[in-house]
Amino acid sequence: MKGLTVRLAEERDRQVIRDVEERAFGGMGEATLVDSLVAADDAVLELVAEREGEIVGHILFSRVFVEAGDDRFPGVALAPAAVLPDWQGKGVGRAMIRDAHKRLQAAGEKLSVVLGDPAYYGRFGYEHGRAAGFASTYQCDALQAVAWGEAPSSGKLVYATPFGAL
Ligand SMILES: CC(C)(COP(=O)(O)OP(=O)(O)OC[C@H]1O[C@@H](n2cnc3c(N)ncnc32)[C@H](O)[C@@H]1OP(=O)(O)O)[C@@H](O)C(=O)NCCC(=O)NCCS
Repeated sequence: MKGLTVRLAEERDRQVIRDVEERAFGGMGEATLVDSLVAADDAVLELVAEREGEIVGHILFSRVFVEAGDDRFPGVALAPAAVLPDWQGKGVGRAMIRDAHKRLQAAGEKLSVVLGDPAYYGRFGYEHGRAAGFASTYQCDALQAVAWGEAPSSGKLVYATPFGAL
């Protein structure tokens, strides 16, 4: 989309991010999750999409671990992603996910997981097959993963503590 900028979220954006999350999801659950993840220092990457100075989208990736025996492999979990209702279906989500994936790979991240619509997240490389071997309370067809290098395909998926409050 023309004129769309994706940038790192900053402290001054917090209230607007809450508002975007609440309006996108029609409730406070995701906004509260975002605040809790940030407060607990569990956020790995947080971006906003801006158009003409207005924040129209927000995305957060938090730390997740794949645990197997003594091994603890760090990955990221995409949740939540939110676009203001008037701006949905115009490529804002796509721009944020693509930008985030580039930044995550540049930072050396190897594995990202998401719980969401496979018809949407499949566009960005996520597959249930890549996540099917993980033990998780979220295990289902909507649990998907994408790997950008060597990463485990089995083990227990441990999300950041704030997810437990959902
Ligand atoms: C889900 C969400 C983040 C996607 O962002 P978006 O900006 O609306 O999506 P985009 O415009 O980037 O979509 C890219 C493509 O996927 C398609 N698409 C959008 N939502 C889709 C869905 N649920 N299933 C399949 N395809 C979808 C779009 O039509 C578009 O297709 P195109 O490339 O052929 O034009 C946004 O719609 C939203 O905030 N929804 C409400 C909150 C939510 O459900 N968040 C996700 C759970 S974490």
